[in-house]
Amino acid sequence: MRNRLLLFLLLALAISAQTPPSVKGGMVVSQERLASEAGAQVLREGGSAVDAAVATAFALAVVHPAAGNLGGGGFLLSRPVDGPPSFVDFREAAPGAAGPRMWLKAGVYDEARHHRSLASVGVPGTVAGLHEAWRREGRLPWARLLHPAIRLAREGFLLSENQAASLAEQLPEFRKHGPTLAQFSRDGLPLRTGDRLVQRDLARTLVRISKDWRDFYRGRTARLILRDTRENAGLIRAADLAAYRPVLREVLRGRYRGLEVLAAPPPSSGGQVLIEALNILEGYDLRAAGAGSPAAVHLASEALRRAFADRARFLGDPAFNLDMPLDRLLSKAYAGELRGTIEPDRASVSAPDRFTWPRDRPDTTHLSVIDRRGSAVSLTYTLEDSYGLKRIVPGAGFLLNNELGDFNGGPGLTDATGLIGTPPNLAGPGKRPLSSMCPLILVKDGAVLLVSGSPGGRSIPSTVLETVLNVVDFGMDARAAVDTPRFHHQWLPDRIQVEAGLAEATRAALKAMGHDLSVVKKQGCAQVILVRDGQAEGAADSRRWADSGLAAE
Ligand code: GLY
Repeated sequence: MRNRLLLFLLLALAISAQTPPSVKGGMVVSQERLASEAGAQVLREGGSAVDAAVATAFALAVVHPAAGNLGGGGFLLSRPVDGPPSFVDFREAAPGAAGPRMWLKAGVYDEARHHRSLASVGVPGTVAGLHEAWRREGRLPWARLLHPAIRLAREGFLLSENQAASLAEQLPEFRKHGPTLAQFSRDGLPLRTGDRLVQRDLARTLVRISKDWRDFYRGRTARLILRDTRENAGLIRAADLAAYRPVLREVLRGRYRGLEVLAAPPPSSGGQVLIEALNILEGYDLRAAGAGSPAAVHLASEALRRAFADRARFLGDPAFNLDMPLDRLLSKAYAGELRGTIEPDRASVSAPDRFTWPRDRPDTTHLSVIDRRGSAVSLTYTLEDSYGLKRIVPGAGFLLNNELGDFNGGPGLTDATGLIGTPPNLAGPGKRPLSSMCPLILVKDGAVLLVSGSPGGRSIPSTVLETVLNVVDFGMDARAAVDTPRFHHQWLPDRIQVEAGLAEATRAALKAMGHDLSVVKKQGCAQVILVRDGQAEGAADSRRWADSGLAAE
């Protein structure tokens, strides 16, 4: 009898291991409804989560040109139910002519060259990266995934209030470059809410990519990019485009209160900061402290302070920084040592003798996907600044990034104004600039619990961390986890940035502990999916974009 029971239990276990946990209501959450709908339709047609993410990302390049892109780069984290998690790094790469002193003019740091010239354009990774993810885990034909983007570019779409306001705000910049002004205005005048934005050159580029993605790197699109860079002192050459490869990297893994954390490895610092901070926080009873309480904000800020200090010291492109001590930084033992340096009710002091931070760049965007089988994708990509370099490639209709601005300013350039000159993140040929993007998937008992990510420059890991704490420690639903007021600490400058919604009493208590505070209206724009009782629950962040999009399978 006991043997039969044992046999039955073993059989049940074997069957449950083979049957992927299903999720009611697959969904896509992104910063734009039209893009999310493009992804959800792909899911309805039997596409994989990666298929949906690819379709959503291409559609975002059309309907959210501030950050959705062909001319930028990013990271795609995938957790299929029937295979191991994977991570595609399609971060932009510096061209062969790059070097650590490239932002200096006669030995003096040249801010405009670093952030606003064609020299700041990295070799774009988005097209190659999305194709690589599709090649590995796609189910529908590649060309099918570009159909919605092609249609939205060719037929146009009606601008929402947000989209029209965002384009109007950039008009003075667009005026500096005729082809960009022509694409994003009505004969030089601002487009208004309800106007139709048609992008014919972009549609033609997307059609070429749908026929053969290599067109971007070796075909007509490549030639259009090269003509522009040659004529305008850009550094990208044909060999740089031809040499670009996305990199399949080991997912950065951690554990938090029994959950599995899947996160971004270098060249992003997102996973290191997130996991190191979570390891420190695991030693505290945050639930008892309460969400938004002085103790919870203090402890999370102190954890972030320490994780960001390590980021600054050690992180950069792994191909050029072979001695990054990630095993140690992400160990529970190290977290214990760091916890020992945190006082429960007194702010630490960030050593100010090293360096402060460069100013943050605001635009990046995130999308989260889950399908009915429970496969998930977390994708963050960027042009660096809002609308990147704010100039399209003439004839190709897409915006170029200014991502190389994420490299440090130059060797030994560290100063109190925020310049950094430490070696791990100096520019170099083929090198990828250090990122803060933090696509995350949290797994509970073998099934996806949370998919999260956000834009926000250096504040991205803090925003993502808080979505985790809100769900795991404070038991919030997806909506509350996204809406709860946020905060951020990045070691230097030595202060906590808090959203205006954080309670006045908490702010006063933090100041009494010795924290310096700065108040911002909004931090980040998280796109979150939470799975509870087998039901997917999505929350699109309304902080930046009131009509952010959530679409169900
Ligand atoms: N450009 C934003 C980031 O990579 O963190």
